[in-house]
Amino acid sequence: MDNRPIGVFDSGLGGVTVLQELKKILPNEDFIYLGDTKHSPYGEKTKDELKKLVNNNIRFLLEKDVKVIVIACNTAASIGSNYYDKNYDIPFISVLEAGVDEVKDTDENILVAATQATINLGRYQKLIKKNHKDINVVGVACPDIVPAIEFSDLSKIDTQNIVDRYILEHSDGGFDGVILGCTHYPIFEKEFSKAIPSARLINPARRTAQMTREFLEKHNMLRLESDEYTSREEFYVSGDINIFKEKIERIFEKKIQNIDKIG
Ligand code: DGL
Repeated sequence: MDNRPIGVFDSGLGGVTVLQELKKILPNEDFIYLGDTKHSPYGEKTKDELKKLVNNNIRFLLEKDVKVIVIACNTAASIGSNYYDKNYDIPFISVLEAGVDEVKDTDENILVAATQATINLGRYQKLIKKNHKDINVVGVACPDIVPAIEFSDLSKIDTQNIVDRYILEHSDGGFDGVILGCTHYPIFEKEFSKAIPSARLINPARRTAQMTREFLEKHNMLRLESDEYTSREEFYVSGDINIFKEKIERIFEKKIQNIDKIG
C-alpha cells in the first residue's frame, strides 16, 4: 500500500478531463493537480521549450512527494519519454500512450486531432504506425481550440464553428476513429461528434485512468481503503488562480477547495 498522492499535470485545465476519469475509478486516492497556465498554450511551444516546462512540472510534483505522475497533456508527452522517464525515479503514465492503445487492429484510418506541437512532433502518428503497420494515420492540428477554452467565455462563442473549421473537411474521409489528442478536446466532445459523426471518438482519458489503476494494483501501490477517509485533491496553477477556479467551476461544474499559485 502507498498512501501518497497521485500527481497529474497539464498546461492548463484540459487535464481535468483526465483527473475526472481517474477519480471515477480511483475514488480513494489523493490527487495533486498542476496546471501550468502561465505557459499555456503548450501547443505553440518548441520541443526545447516543452522539455524545460515538462521537467519543471515533474520536479514540482516530486517535491509534493507523489507516487506516480500522470502526464495529462498530449503535447507534453509528445517530447518522448526519453526526455523525462530516464531522469527520475518515479513511474509515469502518459495520456498519449493511452490514446495509442485505444487504436484497434481492425482500424484502417485514424484521424489524430491535436495541438500544432503534437502534430509536428509526430509521436502519435509514429507510435500508432509502429503498433499497426498498415494503418493510415492523418494528423490535424486545431490551434484555436485550446486558446478558446483557456481564454474565452465559451458561452459567447460559436464552439461548433471552432471544431468544424478543422474537422469538417475530414468528415468524408472514411475515418474509423478520431483521437481527441489534446486533453482539452473532450470538453468539445459533442462538437467533434457532430463534425464527424461516422467516426468513433477516442478520448484517451479513460484508458489513462485504467492504466494508472492497473499500474498501482500491479505494484501494490493503491491507497489503503478506510471508511473514515475522504479523498483529497490539491490544485496548483502558475497563472491566475481566480480565472482557473472560475473556469473549472463553469466547465466541469466542480468546486475547487484547495488551490495555490506556484512560481
Ligand atoms: N491539453 C494539452 C494537450 O493535451 C495542451 C494544450 C495546450 O496547447 O496548452 O495537448
